[in-house]
Amino acid sequence: MRILYVVGTRPNFVKTAPVIGALRERLPDGRHAIVHTGQHYDRLMSEIFLEQLGVPAPDHMLEVGSGSHAAMTARTMERLEPVLLEERPDLVVVPGDVNSTLAAVLTAVKLEIPVAHIESGLRSFDLTMPEEVNRIVADRFSELLFLHSEEAVENLRAEGIADERMHMVGNTMIDTLVALEDRFRAEQTAARLGVEPGAYALVTLHRPALVDGPLLPETVAQLAALAREMPVVFPVHPRTRKMMESVEAEHPGLLLIEPLGYLEFLSLLADAGAVLTDSGGIQEETTYLGIPCFTLRANTERPVTVRAGTNTLLGLDPGAIAGIPAALAARDPSEKSEPPPLWDGQAAGRIADVIVCRR
Ligand code: UD1
Repeated sequence: MRILYVVGTRPNFVKTAPVIGALRERLPDGRHAIVHTGQHYDRLMSEIFLEQLGVPAPDHMLEVGSGSHAAMTARTMERLEPVLLEERPDLVVVPGDVNSTLAAVLTAVKLEIPVAHIESGLRSFDLTMPEEVNRIVADRFSELLFLHSEEAVENLRAEGIADERMHMVGNTMIDTLVALEDRFRAEQTAARLGVEPGAYALVTLHRPALVDGPLLPETVAQLAALAREMPVVFPVHPRTRKMMESVEAEHPGLLLIEPLGYLEFLSLLADAGAVLTDSGGIQEETTYLGIPCFTLRANTERPVTVRAGTNTLLGLDPGAIAGIPAALAARDPSEKSEPPPLWDGQAAGRIADVIVCRR
């Protein structure tokens, strides 16, 4: 069997690494070709992840880089088509909801190559979010849909997608976390940064709705205020870094650092007293680890994390950051949350079983 995996961004690597591993194990004589679109290209956004996650060097680098959504998607499609024609895969595997995912699905489906979509069925019901469009297209045109939460079934049924295409397998991002837990716990990133485990807030923000417009200066001012209550560590995504150039961001207690590798970041996440984010994956990782997470967005495509009790949706409202210390003080530390069903480190094995049976 010939399988081609298309990845392009930081979270893609985390979601796909265990699936590549499980399929290589079950199909050792198969062709497992990896395509890196190059949507993320800085060492700290890309290479360091492939190295730490043990992903083999990509067979094809498309080097599409940054650009408008149309330009990025078009460039990826144009460069991926000849690779698909050369590799002639029986199946294309894509994760998540980024522009690389969208481009890969469209290119494969036009060549009548079946697609498997990891992390299918998530919906924010907000079409102004670029990822929502990508999710809908990926699910509509993928033959195999791999789901990690119950609401995904309802979302897909509501779009007329047949149950036969859906496979509830669990969360491959959590597979990676479980597999690397000993290694990231040994990293001690907090100590290296001079902050005390359990006593600091970890912040990540990169979504256009928050960082590309007028909300960013107000958010930074709120982070500065939060930093008077507890140290705030903020590894800054390149998109956010660019937008922050004109924002006053020097404040005592607010530690702005470069993006971190997977192990360094998960270490900092696991030891955080609280997390403030607009990321999808971090809502899930905090749920698994039982860390209080505050999501600075109007909605989430991952309501399972809110039901689990770890995630609080703050709205797209920087002013809500001021309520975090009181919310933390009101928590009952004896209340332990349970990870959702099948978030157990075995999802990639289930995916591999489905793919192998389908042959
Ligand atoms: C993308 C995904 C988002 C995902 C995020 C994870 C889409 C629509 N968005 O957002 O869903 O949560 O990745 O990080 O696909 N840049 C660099 N170096 C890099 C990559 C990006 O400097 O290695 C800068 C460029 O200026 C670029 C900007 O960051 O224009 C944004 O990158 P892009 O890939 O367009 O979107 P993200 O914000 O990373």
